[in-house]
Amino acid sequence: MAAPNWVNRTIWTGDNLHILRGMNSESVDLIYLDPPFNSNRNYAAPIGSKAAGAAFKDTWTLSDLDVAWMGLIADTEPALYRVVETAGLAHGKHTQSYLCMMAVRLIEMRRVLKSTGSIYLHCDPTASHYLKTLMDVVFGRSGFRNEIVWCYSRMAGNRQRQLSRAHDTILFYAKTDQWTFNVDPIRLPYAESSRNRSGYAKSSLGSGRPSSGICELNPNGKFPEDWITHIPFLRGKEYTGFKTQKPLALLERIILASSNEGDVVLDPFCGCATACVSAETHLRQWAGIDLSEKAVELVEHRLRDHHGLFGDIIHRKDIPKQEGVLDVMYKNRETKHILFGEQEGQCNGCKYSFDYRHFEVDHVVPQSKGGGVISATCNCYVVIATRSRATGLWSILSPV
Ligand SMILES: C[S@@+](CC[C@H](N)C(=O)[O-])C[C@H]1O[C@@H](n2cnc3c(N)ncnc32)[C@H](O)[C@@H]1O
Repeated sequence: MAAPNWVNRTIWTGDNLHILRGMNSESVDLIYLDPPFNSNRNYAAPIGSKAAGAAFKDTWTLSDLDVAWMGLIADTEPALYRVVETAGLAHGKHTQSYLCMMAVRLIEMRRVLKSTGSIYLHCDPTASHYLKTLMDVVFGRSGFRNEIVWCYSRMAGNRQRQLSRAHDTILFYAKTDQWTFNVDPIRLPYAESSRNRSGYAKSSLGSGRPSSGICELNPNGKFPEDWITHIPFLRGKEYTGFKTQKPLALLERIILASSNEGDVVLDPFCGCATACVSAETHLRQWAGIDLSEKAVELVEHRLRDHHGLFGDIIHRKDIPKQEGVLDVMYKNRETKHILFGEQEGQCNGCKYSFDYRHFEVDHVVPQSKGGGVISATCNCYVVIATRSRATGLWSILSPV
């Protein structure tokens, strides 16, 4: 397990995929993510990817972009590829794009999570069934711990012809069988009926002794179930105006149960950073990532209000660099898929458009000239990246 290559209280503005990729492996104790929930048109392309930018719109269609990401998944995670592909066949491009966006990020989250770590994925019935399948593949079915149902009440329209949708789902997985779980801080008061039953058991024994245990009450409260009914949907003072903000009370349960003081908590879709605020309250280290600049503003406000923290938050936009590893950028097949997408199918040397299979990962700008850029070329450039047979890593041999 490694230390994080970022400091406590960091908020990144940017696409979490790139930032996650730069984070040290096995450096995070707990991940909570609350991504966009469904596959409506906003999420038709991978969120925050370059495809969303104008530069790509002329030449890149949604399906081209999918091909690049799907290729990456197909190479590294064939089972995951099948799940995403099947969802696409059944429900079309939007679902496939959404799941593809999630799949590549979940792979990175698994990598940054410590072997003792846990991950909680917050979603709702729009996509929870697909996301659970992805999680089963990425973290293994044996990693599945709970499907937590957070119930809240909501006004239903009188003319509605179905039940009111009033719960979210939180998928809880552990990376290995050594996960942290603290039940005492999240115990809840017993229902009156349980208290009465327990009293009944005592009197039926005719003494003050507890019965066989089935009705024995724990003085710290009852062992919690996988459903939550006591935390209302966010209103009132805590609400910052951020539409998808989650209650602190909900995050508190997750953080207290699945981390210890000093542990590292990461929220890669942090929004107004409820998880970060709660981590700060409970003396955990934390980092948050969000595409929107607004997230930084909001978290600064919230931490100032809650914790009197002024200027202690680090705001970053750069991509961290994993310590001691070359392989992330230099792994040929992964890099090739990404570059093929980013370069819009063109050779970075002669700018000619080529079929994917004719591309090679190459090093175009010599390091001696301040380079370090890896790009995909046809044969117009001298290939100067070589792959070590022993380690499988790519390295730069000489300048062009
Ligand atoms: C449902 S909200 C999170 C709300 C948060 N849990 C809270 O309590 O405020 C999802 C957030 O993910 C962010 N987001 C979406 N795609 C992202 C990406 N690729 N990288 C980073 N953030 C992203 C959105 O900007 C949005 O703020």
